[in-house]
Amino acid sequence: MSIKEWTKEERYRELKDPSELKDLYERIQKSIYRQKYHIQPITGLLNDPNGFVYHDGCWHLFYQWCPWGAVHGLKHWYHTTSKDLVNWTNAGLCIKPDTEYDNKGAYSGSAFLGDDSICLFYTGNHRDPDWKRVPYTCVVKMFDDGRIEKLERPIFGPTDKMSDDQRDPKILYNEELKKYFIVIGARTHDKKGCCIIYESDNLLKGWKYAGQLKVPGFEDFGGMWECPSIERINGNDILIFCPQYLKLERRGNVTNHNGYIIGNMDWETLTFMPEGHFHVLDFGFDSYAAECAANLEGEERAVLVAWMGLPDSSYPTDEDEWSGCLTLPRELRVRNRRLIQTPLPQLAELREVEVDAEDILSGREKLAGPMEMLFETGDGDFELKLFTDEQGNGGLSLKYNDEERMFTVDRSGLSQRFNIEQGEVRMHEIDSPLRTLRIYLDTSSVEIFVNDGDAVFTSRVFPTDREISFKVTEGAGIKIWRLKSVSNTDFVVT
Ligand code: FRU
Repeated sequence: MSIKEWTKEERYRELKDPSELKDLYERIQKSIYRQKYHIQPITGLLNDPNGFVYHDGCWHLFYQWCPWGAVHGLKHWYHTTSKDLVNWTNAGLCIKPDTEYDNKGAYSGSAFLGDDSICLFYTGNHRDPDWKRVPYTCVVKMFDDGRIEKLERPIFGPTDKMSDDQRDPKILYNEELKKYFIVIGARTHDKKGCCIIYESDNLLKGWKYAGQLKVPGFEDFGGMWECPSIERINGNDILIFCPQYLKLERRGNVTNHNGYIIGNMDWETLTFMPEGHFHVLDFGFDSYAAECAANLEGEERAVLVAWMGLPDSSYPTDEDEWSGCLTLPRELRVRNRRLIQTPLPQLAELREVEVDAEDILSGREKLAGPMEMLFETGDGDFELKLFTDEQGNGGLSLKYNDEERMFTVDRSGLSQRFNIEQGEVRMHEIDSPLRTLRIYLDTSSVEIFVNDGDAVFTSRVFPTDREISFKVTEGAGIKIWRLKSVSNTDFVVT
């Protein structure tokens, strides 16, 4: 099947009735690359995670959703829920772009627990008939009984101090000042990426523009900052954002990144004072638009989830009419002025059976997701190839050079190659010598946690039925588990 060319009308078609999606839903169930324990789109395309929040024993997580196929078109918020961050249930369509203010998409945003409901703050992507963009900040209330109510009017429109790229509201409350703030990603008129801040005494009204966030040393860092947030973890302020139109060393030809700066936030002067430089959040190929759960602030840890994909990219499942998934939710901590990401302890519940590595190496069993692998690497250089053929050829290469402490992931050896122009190698110098690798394989993804979360490499991979083995440096300790399939697959749209 060839990849469809989409007209604007097709991409922005309004979803009138869930039954319009039933055939598409049935077709994508047949895709061999559907995931087994990651959140993936019910149909069409998934991009950013949105509105991540914990309330009354339940986690709510939404994703940017274009129902029609593997294309960025009319974006909705699709809702999933979980009791444990491991088993996810499809809960249906939540925000529909059905007003003048969001006529061309309900774009990304965040959640906050209000008095009577979960309040979802998002960007209404309005476009006029000449396709001129006007971004509004809108709110939807979601009540415990499932009722959804969109505020009649946006809480504010765009500021003329910036270009029309203003989106992705992150709502937070400052105890000391007894004030709500909204951080928004923006691009100045002279094309520099930045954040702008709004403030109010009231969650749902009285919002006013407070100014541009000052980040000394980062006045000229990328051309647009998407999905910003300012998190507080164990006394540290962390500015997490996605600078675009930016080249970074060891990141191939990619110009969209997701990273963070640790520092101190002064809400009175709207200054984020960096302590150190910009760090990439995930060193793999496919990770963007990370979001932390809203109401764990101030704790020693946060929970983070990201889109396992990148803007301006295409994936082999485009042919199967779907695209994208989310990463595993991860625990986020600060250690030695760095963010450390670790898999959630409760993921161990997914282990179904332990697999003997010899059974895979001898061809009696196949290497294929859903699986978890743990390697004790020993001293010195180390090499692992995942998804080789039975003779150990090809595959996704993970290499560690001990002298330079360089960890390299190279996906050019896989038979299904994609986004080649972005470069097929990613590298990162790790902080301490390699000791362990914990790897989560799903049908079409790998998440590699180096040294207990010192560095993470997340990537989509699309192994074929000949890429079923692995090869590893002799002497490494290996444990492998086959995992349960628990992914969100029900057809729930309303
Ligand atoms: C990031 C992003 C956001 C926007 C959303 C639209 O991937 O471009 O800035 O709100 O996706 O789907």
